[in-house]
Amino acid sequence: MGEHEEMLEESRQGEVLELNPFNETQTGKKLYIESYGCQMNFSDSEIVASVLGNEGYTTTTNMEEADLVFLNTCSIRDKAEETIRKRLKTIKHDPKKKKDVKIGVLGCMAERLKGKLLEEEKLVDLVAGPDAYRKLPELVDDIEDGQKAVNVLLSREETYDDIEPVRINSNGVTAFVSIMRGCDNMCTFCVVPFTRGRERSRNAESIVNECKDLHKKGYKEVTLLGQNVDSYRWSENRNLRGRKLREAPRDEVIDFAKLLIMVAEISPSLRVRFSTSHPKDIIDEVMFAIRDYKNICEYIHLPAQSGNTRILKKMNRTYTREWYDAKIARIREVIPSCAISTDIITGFCSETDKEHQDTVELMKQVRYELAYMFFYSERPGTLAQKKFEDDVSEDVKKSRLKEIIDIQTQINKELNEEEISKIHEVLVEGVSKRDENDFRGRNSQNKVIIFPRENYKIGDYVKVKVEKSTSATLIGKAVEIVNY
Ligand code: 5AD
Ligand code: SF4
Repeated sequence: MGEHEEMLEESRQGEVLELNPFNETQTGKKLYIESYGCQMNFSDSEIVASVLGNEGYTTTTNMEEADLVFLNTCSIRDKAEETIRKRLKTIKHDPKKKKDVKIGVLGCMAERLKGKLLEEEKLVDLVAGPDAYRKLPELVDDIEDGQKAVNVLLSREETYDDIEPVRINSNGVTAFVSIMRGCDNMCTFCVVPFTRGRERSRNAESIVNECKDLHKKGYKEVTLLGQNVDSYRWSENRNLRGRKLREAPRDEVIDFAKLLIMVAEISPSLRVRFSTSHPKDIIDEVMFAIRDYKNICEYIHLPAQSGNTRILKKMNRTYTREWYDAKIARIREVIPSCAISTDIITGFCSETDKEHQDTVELMKQVRYELAYMFFYSERPGTLAQKKFEDDVSEDVKKSRLKEIIDIQTQINKELNEEEISKIHEVLVEGVSKRDENDFRGRNSQNKVIIFPRENYKIGDYVKVKVEKSTSATLIGKAVEIVNY
């Protein structure tokens, strides 16, 4: 594992959020939960906190006082699972934890390994897949009675739409709102369709109500989450389900563009972000919504995965390089100042040096504002594992990864230098980790900007003039507050 990838994995896969204590109730039982992997997992942990909160569990940031320790896990790459295995062992052997503490594994690794986690690892008492969180009270009852508990049933309907998430480790300014679950895309490298099940959209009204409620509580930004947000579709009409819903004309359904607008219309002071978009599904109407509503952020995460058409076909991404190039061109035409980010996999099955160079060239051509880069990690049960040989050596995968990371770092440095002396509107999210006299926030394009606090407050929109930059951050000085 190269140092660079370690760093990038950290940024996406290794973050650990702990719960803040929420409503004090009577049982005295305490829950401690760590989340790994994608934003959806962090959002799901807030559902879990809510479900167990109703059972009288309070949450704690101190594992030593917890009666229940949950790890909400990720299976996307082998390394993600390794990290969790190590963590489970550390927890199991931690002498400071409570003697009768129960340990649970939630999320994708629970779904992938099922009961094996109980048998093989002997580190775990409870296993619950992503669609089983409503059943946690019963599962917890079982383990309290000394039994082991497993529920990994996937659902075609579960969206947890009526559960009000308990905001975890919240800065009180930004929140995730899940709008759909699962994925039907079947990219050949990806384990997600197997661990998170079929794609289903959440009731639009419950999404809008959750966002309104967040706005009332003083939140300033919501990020609408889904594995593939552009295929969001909802209708009140119960006759429109499944394929009929997917095939119904746009004017009969709420699609993602309409949902974005419904959320954006809550208030001009509530920013709206979303992730992740699929190049095959993003449509003009979504771009028009971004262009027409100032509070819909100018930022699209549009994973390319590869710059080569043969590899894209083998990945089952269902677009060609030309299609991807055309999408980028269209975004730039409709929203010239839109930031675009990507995910890239190096060394997918049979990728040649020449094909890798197409990815290099794509990155130089697009000049992404941000890229999450990984080398291919074969996942058991995926179509690629069944059909193709994982035949690019680890050394080659890693050297290709290093090549694109170096290119991207240079691009970020140059893009950030171009921002010097420009003014950006920043939503203040918190105090800078490096210096407590500075605030940290992001502009519409998702770029982190640091500036001296002066008399501004967390949650303010502030115009900041950029004075300096690094490859990762812009550093500036406040010019004025923006009032909405
Ligand atoms: N190996 C490496 N990277 C992967 N991703 C998904 N599956 C794999 C895998 N098997 C990456 C993709 C995806 C991101 C979330 O993780 O780039 O967009
Ligand atoms: Fe995995 Fe592809 Fe679905 Fe993303 S779109 S979750 S990469 S199958």
